[in-house]
Amino acid sequence: MIYLDHAATTPIDADVVVIIEKALRDQYGNPSSLYQKGREARKVIEDARKIFARSIQAQEKDLIITSGASESNNTAIIGTALALQEKGKHLITTAVEHHSVLHPMQYLEKLGFEVTYLAVDETARVTAQQVEEALRPDTILVSVIYGNNEVGSINPIEEIGSIVANHSALFHTDAVQVYGSKEINVEKEKIDLLSVTAHKLNGPKGIGFLYRRNNYHLPNYIHGGTQENDHRAGTENTPYIAGFAQAVENMLRKRDENNQQKEELKSFFLQELTKREIAFSVNGMESGGLPHILNLYLPGIQSDKFLIQCDLNDIFISAGSACTAGSLEPSHVLSAMFGKNSRRIVESIRVSFGSGNTKEEILLFVDLIERIQKRK
Ligand SMILES: Cc1ncc(COP(=O)(O)O)c(C=O)c1O
Repeated sequence: MIYLDHAATTPIDADVVVIIEKALRDQYGNPSSLYQKGREARKVIEDARKIFARSIQAQEKDLIITSGASESNNTAIIGTALALQEKGKHLITTAVEHHSVLHPMQYLEKLGFEVTYLAVDETARVTAQQVEEALRPDTILVSVIYGNNEVGSINPIEEIGSIVANHSALFHTDAVQVYGSKEINVEKEKIDLLSVTAHKLNGPKGIGFLYRRNNYHLPNYIHGGTQENDHRAGTENTPYIAGFAQAVENMLRKRDENNQQKEELKSFFLQELTKREIAFSVNGMESGGLPHILNLYLPGIQSDKFLIQCDLNDIFISAGSACTAGSLEPSHVLSAMFGKNSRRIVESIRVSFGSGNTKEEILLFVDLIERIQKRK
């Protein structure tokens, strides 16, 4: 079995499982209970929050723990729209966001908000100038993906942050794919809202956080108790919060080493394709993108058929984002980069590396590509 789909999700770290098991078994108190068992669980959560805050140079009070990045993105976008609608009803985003950004935007359009979708270049990026030109007096939010989950391109977030900081709009970024590979500093980069999830960094699924500057009060949409500083009702998922914190510590400790290993695998893969004269080109940034993501155009190889061949050979990759691959819909990211009629949309694959991958696995995968390309 060769797993090369780490942008979709990652296997969980062994020590994260140990921490989760311990919390499930021992730290079962309700964190809102005032007696010792409750205080014990509360401490697990507040210790975790310190780790999350440190990881992006934020303050603990500015973090809301969520069920993952879909919730963080929805809260950031819909929450800001509802909070600031008296000031304006215009939002700016890009054409290549994850669906958990695009769909809340479309939902807001139905409610009477206006959204500008910035076009991207052939590397899937926007410029700070595009953002500046799209800003209007009634713009309340700018949401730009940090690192693209399909092609791995990185947007100039610090530059965009500086532009938006001179305007009354808030600046949100979906940092899901970047968080595991790049140092983030919300102060320096002037980010007001930032979404992260645990399962892309060898943590559990169904847990993440939303950073929002100065404890900015977004309207609740889960009403009930006063958890998460009255931002999100519901008894906290102590075991997964503890596991997430462990995954973040592991990630911070091994980030540089892991990045280097993934870059090496990526270059090795590309060299091997070249050596065997397999036709390909890279979709996205040739260099300087996310180390774990490689999106490849393989002319003449239809991606849906190729994915089936990979599956039959126990090699797991995808053709775009996870949900796009599942439904075999053409990728909205590649469409925005190359136009709806480009062959690249139906002849591209996404390979995404993890720290457990080896050169031997890459060789086996390239063997398969070679066999398929010879057969066509
Ligand atoms: C860029 C991006 N944003 C948001 C998400 C959604 O995250 P989650 O699965 O935690 O809801 C993902 C994961 O698929 C992603 O890659």
